[in-house]
Amino acid sequence: MTLSSTGNSGPNALLIKLRRRIASEGPITLAQYMDACLCDPDHGYYTTRDPFGAGGDFTTAPEISQIFGELIGLWCVVVWRSMGKPEPLRLIELGPGRGTLMADALRAAKVAPEFLDAAHIYLVETSPVLREAQARNLEASGRKPHWHARAGDVPEGAAILIANEFLDALPVRQFVRREGAWFERCVELCEERGLAFCTAPDALETPDLLPRGLRAGAVDGDICEIRPGADELVETLAARAQNHALSALFIDYGHARSAPGETLQAVRAHDFADPLALPGYADLTAHVDFGRLGEVAGKNALEVHGPVSQAEFLGALGLKERCERLMETAQDKDREQIASGALRVADPAQMGSLFKVMALTSGGLTPPAFAGFPRSGARI
Ligand SMILES: C[S@@+](CC[C@H](N)C(=O)[O-])C[C@H]1O[C@@H](n2cnc3c(N)ncnc32)[C@H](O)[C@@H]1O
Repeated sequence: MTLSSTGNSGPNALLIKLRRRIASEGPITLAQYMDACLCDPDHGYYTTRDPFGAGGDFTTAPEISQIFGELIGLWCVVVWRSMGKPEPLRLIELGPGRGTLMADALRAAKVAPEFLDAAHIYLVETSPVLREAQARNLEASGRKPHWHARAGDVPEGAAILIANEFLDALPVRQFVRREGAWFERCVELCEERGLAFCTAPDALETPDLLPRGLRAGAVDGDICEIRPGADELVETLAARAQNHALSALFIDYGHARSAPGETLQAVRAHDFADPLALPGYADLTAHVDFGRLGEVAGKNALEVHGPVSQAEFLGALGLKERCERLMETAQDKDREQIASGALRVADPAQMGSLFKVMALTSGGLTPPAFAGFPRSGARI
């Protein structure tokens, strides 16, 4: 392998940059590698492309069914009313992709003009390419969103926040257990393949960094994942919630309880890929640990609702009824797509069970679709 060889995609500038960095600094952590692959300011995966749809690498629920964003828009209206109709409302979306979810949500929320009057739109997005797509997609709504690079930059005030498949893109650190100690997983140079996984030579000095739920019962050979960016985000939201009403909705694939295991995956052209083969040319993600998300939120005085499965969440919000309604007025050519899209996002054998939904709120709010479900995530 030479520095400029990347298979069929031309010279891989990010691979060259990473190899130079590792040659001068030594191995980098998996989290540093993920961050560079996804968000490098010049060559990162999201920085340089719109990866969605049949011609891209993967698709997401809002791109599959308009009903997904519409139901979330109505969820926001009900939550806003239960907050006492604060004005202005910061309506925040983290990682909005093409802006499809927000566009569908705002269209559905037209049933509540007073909500739309109160809502100011904030999109937290690092990709310039996707910011442009979001601006185009939101044109029809007549709304001018504000863009920020971090959730903490959104001005204070009452807020409803939505994050669909955002947390899975935040870098994870991995630790491998050997002879009772934990060693961080890193990326090093490899002459044959360009890059290879390795472990740090020294054991982790502060095993408390790993949540007790992950360490308990772990045996040699186990791998644990932590996502510091998710913990920091929850702390940022908790700080907001001390002064203002807050309701944050997280939808992602992942597990309800913390457990050891390796979930890093690379996806390219709708297929799994080698995470080290083409840095910057494949989406890199890892499952979301909803158990940990709820634990950090609870410790920071946020109320935790769920997780519930995506199937339960969408079912409780009226997916079936909305689908039937759309079918009544749809043209014949669109019916098949409406029905198959609704099935795909909610069917437990497709996205309905792997994807989970959790709401974190300031005190005294019970958002729709969570009433009647346990607050601690014991259901799934
Ligand atoms: C998998 S896409 C999800 C897109 C969208 N929510 C959807 O459901 O179609 C991840 C999104 O998060 C953005 N993103 C990734 N890492 C980010 C970061 N650290 N800060 C802000 N946005 C980020 C990406 O550019 C992209 O818009």
